[in-house]
Amino acid sequence: MLKLCKFAFHLYLLMRCEILSFGGPEQNFSIQLRREILRTPLGLDFTNEELEQESSQVHIGCYLNTQLAGVLLLKNSADHTLKMRQVAVKNEFQKMGVGKEMVVYAEKWARDNGYKTMELNARQTAVPFYLKLNYTIQGSEFTEVGIPHSKMAKQL
Ligand SMILES: CC(C)(COP(=O)(O)OP(=O)(O)OC[C@H]1O[C@@H](n2cnc3c(N)ncnc32)[C@H](O)[C@@H]1OP(=O)(O)O)[C@@H](O)C(=O)NCCC(=O)NCCS
Repeated sequence: MLKLCKFAFHLYLLMRCEILSFGGPEQNFSIQLRREILRTPLGLDFTNEELEQESSQVHIGCYLNTQLAGVLLLKNSADHTLKMRQVAVKNEFQKMGVGKEMVVYAEKWARDNGYKTMELNARQTAVPFYLKLNYTIQGSEFTEVGIPHSKMAKQL
């Protein structure tokens, strides 16, 4: 679905989420975006093995006009459960509704495909974002990629 989102005082951009194909140019943009937002700030990079495993996951992208502004991945977890991972929005497009639009799109995709639960490991800094989208914290804090995380989940 197309939506208008405000970028600057008098500038609006068209926002649209879609499934990205794996292996094409979109995949390279997605890796680049996630590397920039999720890995480089921590002094890390993806391993080839991690990237290869992504071939079986659902890749959702959000475009602002023609530019890829955000990405998230969905991985089959337990029965009827999907794990949302690698949620990243480019710095200059954060707090404009891109993250929320991608999560709403992912949840609809999950429901349409018979999933009942969405789960994720949230960075502590992103927990308030997921709380606003009605995810709840499950259990105690733990460390992943060297930073504190909480497991969160939502019944779809
Ligand atoms: C966290 C992230 C995905 C959120 O995406 P976003 O596009 O910036 O968020 P949105 O604009 O859709 O925000 C939706 C709501 O959550 C709020 N929100 C977003 N990020 C927040 C944060 N870190 N802390 C508190 N509130 C936040 C927004 O203010 C907005 O509130 P509103 O509905 O009352 O206006 C994005 O900021 C990001 O990529 N951060 C860096 C990487 C990261 O932490 N990824 C998550 C890994 S688990």
